[in-house]
Amino acid sequence: MRRLVAETRLAPADLVLPAFVREGAAEPVPIASMPGVVQHSLDTLRRAAAEAAELGLGGIMLFGVPLVRDATGSQATDPAGILNVATRAVREEVGDALVVQTDLCLDEFTDHGHCGVLDDRGMVDNDATLERYREMALAQAEAGSEILGLSGMMDGQVAAVRDALDAEGRTDTAVVAYSAKYASAFYGPFRDAVESTLQGDRRSYQLDPGNRREGLREALIDIAEGADAVMVKPAGSYLDVLADVAAASEVPVWAYQVSGEYAMIEAAAAHGWIDRDRAVAESVLAIKRAGADAVLTYWAAELAARIRRGE
Ligand code: PBG
Repeated sequence: MRRLVAETRLAPADLVLPAFVREGAAEPVPIASMPGVVQHSLDTLRRAAAEAAELGLGGIMLFGVPLVRDATGSQATDPAGILNVATRAVREEVGDALVVQTDLCLDEFTDHGHCGVLDDRGMVDNDATLERYREMALAQAEAGSEILGLSGMMDGQVAAVRDALDAEGRTDTAVVAYSAKYASAFYGPFRDAVESTLQGDRRSYQLDPGNRREGLREALIDIAEGADAVMVKPAGSYLDVLADVAAASEVPVWAYQVSGEYAMIEAAAAHGWIDRDRAVAESVLAIKRAGADAVLTYWAAELAARIRRGE
């Protein structure tokens, strides 16, 4: 009877797996602060994508870790850059069996670690960054990405990328806007995962954790600019914002259960302080309950396998 009256269910198709790929890696490299998550080689990334397709996941979101970084993040737009190479490899591996998505942001590719290019004073230059995002969007679409994940929080980024795609006839390439992206401490382990060189913080372009209305406002702006889906990030500490956006949105609403949320549960479980499997499932179920249509989670493959086993 509990099953009959359950209000919220998890399905593999609602889950998206974020995956890292490291340029030049012959073997997967473990990420110390994210036990169980690795920086893939191209080979193991292909295998992870094939497995994700078999499990019926909604998609895979790719992040690249380049060997060389510079001021403008030139590897982001180079067809031979690791993220673009990996995107082609994964598309070749899975075809249409899995939605292939890419992170569209410069932080993994810049030597200063910011999400955009800098002006003379060392501040992020919003409009110069939009030009780089337009170029990056075309490079990623060309490589075979089907959904571009705009995570840089520049003003006007959705409109700029949509315009660049449409001008090249890329009308089938979709955009998910990381709209309500907060300047959060919970991204800590991710910075290890991509070997971020960031000094300082992202408070000048990401949202203030105390601002609830502003999260909804950012989502509505991105929808007006043409976003195909909007995202709230992090997820677990921002369920109120997620519920607000879900109530108002005319497009799908996604949430990103970020690296720190993953690390906290894994660390507590490693100490034997928490029932790991229950905590993992509950944490993602709560995000769906709050209104997410899809959840990006590092546990996507594990959860899908468990759902399929009927657990
Ligand atoms: C930016 C980006 C970040 C994450 C996803 N995309 C880092 C940031 O904004 O600092 C964080 C994801 C996570 O913590 O799991 N490219």
